[in-house]
Amino acid sequence: MATEFQLNGQAITVDIDGDTPLLWALRDDLDQTGTKYGCGIGMCGACTVLVNGRATRSCITPVESVANATVTTIEGLDPDGEHPLQKAWVQTQTPQCGYCQSGQIMQAAAMLKDFPDPTDEQINSVMAGNLCRCMAYVRIREAIKLAAR
Ligand code: FES
Repeated sequence: MATEFQLNGQAITVDIDGDTPLLWALRDDLDQTGTKYGCGIGMCGACTVLVNGRATRSCITPVESVANATVTTIEGLDPDGEHPLQKAWVQTQTPQCGYCQSGQIMQAAAMLKDFPDPTDEQINSVMAGNLCRCMAYVRIREAIKLAAR
C-alpha cells in the first residue's frame, strides 16, 4: 500500500505494508538511518522523530498513520547540522557511544517548542522516556539548556 507524506521537507511515497513501523520505512526504504532501533516497543526513545512537530516513537507508529503528515528525522532537523541543539551537543561533548543521541535531540527539539527556556525539572520530566546506557543525562541536560539560551 502506498503512503505519501512529507519527509524532511520533501514529498515522498513508500509502497510498503501500512502496518510497517515508520522506523523501518525510514531506515530500510528511505535511507534515513540516523533514527535508531533500541527496544522496538516504545520504551527507550532511540527511534524518536517528529510527526507534525510532536515527538513520536517511530518503532510503534505504523507508516500508514503518517499519511499526509510532516515527518522530521535527525537528518532533516537542520540540513547543515547547525541546529542549536546539534551545536550544543557538540560544544558540550554530550555523546559517549552516541547511539541514543538522535532520539534525544529530536525529543529535545519537540520540548523546546513547549518550553523555550526549560527548568531542570521540565527537562528531566520530558526527557525521562529517552534512555541513555552511557548515563550522559547530566550532559544532555546541559546541552539542552545551552541550546535554549
Ligand atoms: Fe522505539 Fe525504543 S526503539 S522506543
